[in-house]
Amino acid sequence: MRQGPASDWGLLAPNGTDVEFHEICESTNNLASAAVTTGKQAPVWFVAGEQSAGRGRRSRPWTSKSGNLYCSYLFRPSLKISDLATLPFLVSLAVRDTFIGLGCQDGAVQCKWPNDVLISEKKASGILIESSAGPGLDTDFIVVGIGLNLIHYPADAQFSATSVRAETNHTVDVATAFKILSHTLGQRIQAWQPRDTGGLMEEWRACSWGMGRRREIHAGGETFHATLISVEDDGGLRLRMDNGIEKQLYAGDVFAPPING
Ligand code: BTN
Repeated sequence: MRQGPASDWGLLAPNGTDVEFHEICESTNNLASAAVTTGKQAPVWFVAGEQSAGRGRRSRPWTSKSGNLYCSYLFRPSLKISDLATLPFLVSLAVRDTFIGLGCQDGAVQCKWPNDVLISEKKASGILIESSAGPGLDTDFIVVGIGLNLIHYPADAQFSATSVRAETNHTVDVATAFKILSHTLGQRIQAWQPRDTGGLMEEWRACSWGMGRRREIHAGGETFHATLISVEDDGGLRLRMDNGIEKQLYAGDVFAPPING
Protein backbone atom coordinates (compact mmCIF):
# COMPACT_ATOMS: atom_id res chain seq x y z
CA MET A 1 0.00 0.00 0.00
CA ARG A 2 1.37 3.42 -0.88
CA GLN A 3 0.60 6.10 1.62
CA GLY A 4 2.09 9.33 2.83
CA PRO A 5 1.65 12.97 3.68
CA ALA A 6 -1.42 14.25 1.91
CA SER A 7 0.39 17.40 0.77
CA ASP A 8 2.36 15.17 -1.63
CA TRP A 9 -0.96 14.45 -3.30
CA GLY A 10 -2.22 18.03 -3.34
CA LEU A 11 -4.61 17.28 -0.48
CA LEU A 12 -4.70 20.03 2.11
CA ALA A 13 -7.29 20.65 4.78
CA PRO A 14 -7.89 24.06 6.40
CA ASN A 15 -6.26 25.31 9.62
CA GLY A 16 -3.44 22.81 9.39
CA THR A 17 -5.74 19.85 10.11
CA ASP A 18 -3.77 16.67 9.48
CA VAL A 19 -4.68 14.65 6.37
CA GLU A 20 -3.51 11.06 5.90
CA PHE A 21 -3.73 9.75 2.35
CA HIS A 22 -3.86 6.06 1.39
CA GLU A 23 -3.78 5.03 -2.25
CA ILE A 24 -5.89 2.03 -1.27
CA CYS A 25 -7.41 0.89 2.03
CA GLU A 26 -10.34 -1.21 3.16
CA SER A 27 -12.41 1.72 4.40
CA THR A 28 -11.45 5.21 5.52
CA ASN A 29 -13.99 4.84 8.35
CA ASN A 30 -12.03 1.79 9.56
CA LEU A 31 -8.78 3.79 9.43
CA ALA A 32 -10.40 6.53 11.49
CA SER A 33 -11.71 4.20 14.22
CA ALA A 34 -8.38 2.36 14.36
CA ALA A 35 -6.65 5.72 14.86
CA VAL A 36 -8.62 6.21 18.07
CA THR A 37 -7.11 2.99 19.43
CA THR A 38 -3.58 4.06 18.55
CA GLY A 39 -4.13 7.49 20.14
CA LYS A 40 -3.62 9.48 16.93
CA GLN A 41 -4.18 13.19 17.32
CA ALA A 42 -7.63 14.40 16.25
CA PRO A 43 -9.11 16.10 14.33
CA VAL A 44 -7.70 14.30 11.32
CA TRP A 45 -8.85 13.42 7.82
CA PHE A 46 -8.31 10.05 6.14
CA VAL A 47 -8.56 10.07 2.35
CA ALA A 48 -8.26 7.06 0.05
CA GLY A 49 -7.83 6.74 -3.69
CA GLU A 50 -9.76 3.46 -3.58
CA GLN A 51 -11.44 1.33 -0.91
CA SER A 52 -11.50 -2.46 -1.08
CA ALA A 53 -14.30 -2.80 1.51
CA GLY A 54 -16.12 0.55 1.46
CA ARG A 55 -19.14 0.49 3.76
CA GLY A 56 -22.51 2.20 3.47
CA ARG A 57 -25.43 2.59 5.85
CA ARG A 58 -27.17 -0.60 7.03
CA SER A 59 -24.04 -2.67 6.24
CA ARG A 60 -24.43 -2.12 2.50
CA PRO A 61 -21.23 -2.15 0.44
CA TRP A 62 -20.03 1.15 -1.08
CA THR A 63 -18.34 0.57 -4.43
CA SER A 64 -15.12 2.56 -4.31
CA LYS A 65 -13.06 2.61 -7.48
CA SER A 66 -10.46 5.23 -8.29
CA GLY A 67 -11.73 8.66 -9.38
CA ASN A 68 -14.36 9.36 -6.72
CA LEU A 69 -13.68 10.89 -3.30
CA TYR A 70 -13.59 8.60 -0.23
CA CYS A 71 -12.77 10.32 3.05
CA SER A 72 -13.44 10.26 6.78
CA TYR A 73 -13.11 13.02 9.35
CA LEU A 74 -12.28 11.93 12.91
CA PHE A 75 -12.97 14.39 15.70
CA ARG A 76 -13.45 14.15 19.43
CA PRO A 77 -15.71 16.94 20.72
CA SER A 78 -17.02 17.23 24.28
CA LEU A 79 -20.63 16.41 23.55
CA LYS A 80 -23.30 14.01 24.71
CA ILE A 81 -24.33 11.37 22.19
CA SER A 82 -27.83 12.94 22.32
CA ASP A 83 -26.32 16.17 20.93
CA LEU A 84 -25.52 14.51 17.61
CA ALA A 85 -29.05 14.43 16.16
CA THR A 86 -28.41 17.26 13.71
CA LEU A 87 -24.92 16.21 12.64
CA PRO A 88 -26.11 14.18 9.60
CA PHE A 89 -28.00 17.24 8.36
CA LEU A 90 -24.99 19.50 8.87
CA VAL A 91 -22.79 17.08 6.90
CA SER A 92 -25.38 16.85 4.12
CA LEU A 93 -25.34 20.64 3.81
CA ALA A 94 -21.53 20.60 3.57
CA VAL A 95 -21.74 18.00 0.79
CA ARG A 96 -24.36 20.14 -0.95
CA ASP A 97 -22.04 23.20 -0.71
CA THR A 98 -19.32 21.05 -2.27
CA PHE A 99 -21.42 19.98 -5.25
CA ILE A 100 -22.41 23.60 -5.87
CA GLY A 101 -18.75 24.62 -5.54
CA LEU A 102 -17.93 22.01 -8.18
CA GLY A 103 -20.35 23.59 -10.66
CA CYS A 104 -23.68 21.88 -9.99
CA GLN A 105 -26.77 24.10 -10.18
CA ASP A 106 -27.94 25.24 -6.74
CA GLY A 107 -31.57 24.26 -7.37
CA ALA A 108 -30.60 20.79 -8.60
CA VAL A 109 -28.77 19.78 -5.40
CA GLN A 110 -31.19 18.52 -2.75
CA CYS A 111 -30.91 16.82 0.62
CA LYS A 112 -32.88 13.61 1.15
CA TRP A 113 -33.70 12.42 4.68
CA PRO A 114 -31.78 11.29 6.59
CA ASN A 115 -28.43 12.10 4.97
CA ASP A 116 -28.27 11.63 1.21
CA VAL A 117 -27.46 14.40 -1.23
CA LEU A 118 -29.05 14.24 -4.66
CA ILE A 119 -28.23 15.95 -7.92
CA SER A 120 -31.24 16.13 -10.25
CA GLU A 121 -33.07 13.67 -7.98
CA LYS A 122 -30.32 11.03 -8.17
CA LYS A 123 -28.00 10.03 -5.35
CA ALA A 124 -24.51 11.48 -5.75
CA SER A 125 -23.00 10.94 -2.31
CA GLY A 126 -23.13 8.78 0.78
CA ILE A 127 -22.54 9.71 4.41
CA LEU A 128 -21.77 7.19 7.15
CA ILE A 129 -21.45 8.64 10.64
CA GLU A 130 -20.12 6.36 13.38
CA SER A 131 -19.57 7.32 17.00
CA SER A 132 -18.86 5.83 20.35
CA ALA A 133 -19.76 6.98 23.83
CA GLY A 134 -17.98 6.63 27.12
CA PRO A 135 -19.34 6.84 30.67
CA GLY A 136 -22.33 9.16 31.10
CA LEU A 137 -23.01 8.96 27.34
CA ASP A 138 -20.25 11.46 26.62
CA THR A 139 -19.04 11.18 23.05
CA ASP A 140 -15.66 9.49 22.83
CA PHE A 141 -15.16 9.93 19.10
CA ILE A 142 -17.09 10.70 15.91
CA VAL A 143 -16.18 9.51 12.43
CA VAL A 144 -17.87 11.24 9.51
CA GLY A 145 -17.34 9.12 6.40
CA ILE A 146 -18.20 10.73 3.07
CA GLY A 147 -18.19 9.36 -0.45
CA LEU A 148 -18.71 11.72 -3.39
CA ASN A 149 -19.51 10.37 -6.85
CA LEU A 150 -17.24 12.59 -8.91
CA ILE A 151 -16.92 10.50 -12.06
CA HIS A 152 -18.35 7.03 -11.32
CA TYR A 153 -21.72 5.92 -10.05
CA PRO A 154 -23.35 2.50 -9.68
CA ALA A 155 -25.76 1.69 -12.48
CA ASP A 156 -27.71 -0.81 -10.39
CA ALA A 157 -28.27 1.16 -7.17
CA GLN A 158 -31.55 0.78 -5.27
CA PHE A 159 -32.04 4.56 -5.53
CA SER A 160 -30.93 5.91 -8.95
CA ALA A 161 -27.41 7.32 -8.78
CA THR A 162 -25.37 9.90 -10.66
CA SER A 163 -22.02 11.70 -10.56
CA VAL A 164 -20.81 15.29 -10.83
CA ARG A 165 -19.35 14.51 -14.25
CA ALA A 166 -22.63 13.07 -15.52
CA GLU A 167 -24.52 16.16 -14.34
CA THR A 168 -22.10 18.91 -15.33
CA ASN A 169 -20.22 17.39 -18.27
CA HIS A 170 -16.87 18.25 -16.78
CA THR A 171 -14.34 16.11 -14.98
CA VAL A 172 -13.63 16.87 -11.35
CA ASP A 173 -10.44 15.92 -9.59
CA VAL A 174 -10.37 14.44 -6.10
CA ALA A 175 -8.04 17.12 -4.66
CA THR A 176 -10.36 19.98 -5.68
CA ALA A 177 -13.40 18.20 -4.28
CA PHE A 178 -11.60 17.42 -1.01
CA LYS A 179 -10.41 21.00 -0.64
CA ILE A 180 -13.94 22.39 -0.92
CA LEU A 181 -15.47 19.68 1.28
CA SER A 182 -12.90 19.94 4.07
CA HIS A 183 -13.25 23.73 4.18
CA THR A 184 -17.03 23.82 4.23
CA LEU A 185 -17.37 20.95 6.71
CA GLY A 186 -14.73 22.52 8.97
CA GLN A 187 -16.54 25.85 8.91
CA ARG A 188 -19.91 24.30 9.55
CA ILE A 189 -18.65 22.18 12.47
CA GLN A 190 -16.97 25.23 14.00
CA ALA A 191 -20.25 27.19 13.86
CA TRP A 192 -22.39 24.22 14.94
CA GLN A 193 -24.60 24.68 18.00
CA PRO A 194 -25.92 21.18 18.66
CA ARG A 195 -28.61 22.34 21.10
CA ASP A 196 -29.83 25.23 18.95
CA THR A 197 -31.02 23.25 15.97
CA GLY A 198 -33.57 25.60 14.37
CA GLY A 199 -31.38 27.53 11.92
CA LEU A 200 -29.54 24.47 10.67
CA MET A 201 -32.73 22.49 10.13
CA GLU A 202 -34.39 25.48 8.46
CA GLU A 203 -31.53 25.59 5.97
CA TRP A 204 -31.79 21.82 5.40
CA ARG A 205 -35.58 22.00 4.90
CA ALA A 206 -35.16 24.76 2.29
CA CYS A 207 -33.32 22.34 0.00
CA SER A 208 -34.99 19.07 0.96
CA TRP A 209 -36.31 16.49 -1.45
CA GLY A 210 -39.73 14.86 -1.52
CA MET A 211 -41.73 16.87 1.03
CA GLY A 212 -45.47 16.83 0.41
CA ARG A 213 -45.00 13.77 -1.84
CA ARG A 214 -46.08 10.15 -1.42
CA ARG A 215 -42.99 7.97 -1.13
CA GLU A 216 -41.99 4.41 -0.40
CA ILE A 217 -40.54 4.01 3.09
CA HIS A 218 -38.34 1.19 4.39
CA ALA A 219 -38.15 1.26 8.18
CA GLY A 220 -38.06 -1.24 11.02
CA GLY A 221 -38.02 -4.16 8.58
CA GLU A 222 -41.24 -2.98 6.87
CA THR A 223 -42.02 -1.33 3.54
CA PHE A 224 -44.98 1.03 3.30
CA HIS A 225 -46.12 4.15 1.47
CA ALA A 226 -46.70 7.50 3.10
CA THR A 227 -46.70 11.22 2.37
CA LEU A 228 -43.69 13.10 3.72
CA ILE A 229 -44.83 16.06 5.82
CA SER A 230 -41.66 17.58 7.24
CA VAL A 231 -38.41 16.99 9.06
CA GLU A 232 -38.59 18.31 12.62
CA ASP A 233 -35.86 20.21 14.47
CA ASP A 234 -34.86 16.98 16.27
CA GLY A 235 -34.20 15.29 12.90
CA GLY A 236 -37.32 13.11 12.91
CA LEU A 237 -39.20 12.57 9.64
CA ARG A 238 -42.92 13.27 10.08
CA LEU A 239 -45.14 11.42 7.64
CA ARG A 240 -48.80 10.66 7.01
CA MET A 241 -49.74 7.06 6.39
CA ASP A 242 -52.39 6.22 3.78
CA ASN A 243 -54.88 5.64 6.62
CA GLY A 244 -54.40 9.25 7.76
CA ILE A 245 -52.34 8.45 10.87
CA GLU A 246 -49.21 10.56 11.30
CA LYS A 247 -45.97 9.24 12.70
CA GLN A 248 -42.36 10.26 13.14
CA LEU A 249 -39.36 8.18 12.09
CA TYR A 250 -35.78 8.43 13.35
CA ALA A 251 -34.27 5.73 11.11
CA GLY A 252 -35.13 4.38 7.70
CA ASP A 253 -34.85 4.93 3.96
CA VAL A 254 -37.05 6.86 1.58
CA PHE A 255 -37.44 5.86 -2.05
CA ALA A 256 -38.98 7.38 -5.14
CA PRO A 257 -42.72 6.96 -5.54
CA PRO A 258 -43.87 3.52 -6.58
CA ILE A 259 -44.93 3.14 -10.19
CA ASN A 260 -48.76 3.30 -10.22
CA GLY A 261 -48.52 3.86 -6.44
C1 BTN B 1 -24.47 5.31 2.33
O1 BTN B 1 -25.06 6.08 1.57
O2 BTN B 1 -24.91 4.17 2.55
C2 BTN B 1 -23.22 5.78 3.01
C3 BTN B 1 -21.98 5.54 2.20
C4 BTN B 1 -20.72 6.09 2.86
C5 BTN B 1 -19.47 5.83 2.04
C6 BTN B 1 -18.26 6.51 2.61
S1 BTN B 1 -16.89 6.44 1.50
C7 BTN B 1 -15.81 6.98 2.76
C8 BTN B 1 -16.24 6.29 4.04
N1 BTN B 1 -15.64 4.97 4.13
C9 BTN B 1 -16.54 3.98 4.08
O3 BTN B 1 -16.28 2.77 4.14
N2 BTN B 1 -17.76 4.50 3.97
C10 BTN B 1 -17.74 5.95 3.93
